[in-house]
Amino acid sequence: MAIWRDCPGSATAAPGVGNLTGSAAGADSEPRHASEPAVALDLVCTDRPFRAAEAPQPLCRQLAGRPAIVAQMTIEPRLFRNALGCFATGVTVVTARSPAGEPVGVTVNSFNSVSLDPPLILFSIDRAASSYPVFRDAVHYVVNVLCDSQRELSQRFARSVGQRWDDVPHATWDSGVPVLIDCLANLECAREAVYEGGDHVILLGRVLTLAHREDGRPLLYYRGAYRGLGD
Ligand SMILES: Cc1cc2nc3c(=O)[nH]c(=O)nc-3n(C[C@H](O)[C@H](O)[C@H](O)COP(=O)(O)O)c2cc1C
Repeated sequence: MAIWRDCPGSATAAPGVGNLTGSAAGADSEPRHASEPAVALDLVCTDRPFRAAEAPQPLCRQLAGRPAIVAQMTIEPRLFRNALGCFATGVTVVTARSPAGEPVGVTVNSFNSVSLDPPLILFSIDRAASSYPVFRDAVHYVVNVLCDSQRELSQRFARSVGQRWDDVPHATWDSGVPVLIDCLANLECAREAVYEGGDHVILLGRVLTLAHREDGRPLLYYRGAYRGLGD
């Protein structure tokens, strides 16, 4: 979905929803090759949806005989956060060890499965996080998937101050990275790749060892708040 901010020239457009077939937003003057799949793009003006046909020029322009988005719009951060918050996620604490051997952990909901064969997962870490250098360079880390009784643990590992590891029960597996106890699942990973991701980096990990519980309910995060199944 392309998010189109209100901009000069859009005031006359009437509300409505539509799709525009074309290249991805920001593609500039790069023509799309015939072999490239068409991408359906919804045009949204802040909280007011628009029909593609009503998009002001030069936003909508013909490229290689097809309509395409040619302007990269600035997205207002709050609007972006609110839109992303509509995607409900689970909550994890990702753990590692610093070069000095200190345990490190951070609350993360950008976790995702990537590949079954080989078994790959990913998450992204903020470059501004104090633990960023540790995760960027970590050879191993563990993704601990939290259950609904572990909300306090999530809050603790999301705070930038305090003794995060006081009284946190954990074990270690082959890599020596702390594995949190009583989670829904634990995935011990070896670093597979690190990708640039704007103000975050994306860490792709190969799962080496895992455990999961058959019982228990997940801790969820939705619209900026913790939730449980059925909320
Ligand atoms: C539910 C939730 C999910 C979060 N997901 C992420 C994430 O995916 N990546 C990230 O870098 N920070 C994420 N954060 C923010 C970090 O947990 C937070 O910035 C933490 O204080 C960073 O700690 P550090 O600076 O000590 O490393 C999340 C926070 C919460 C509450």
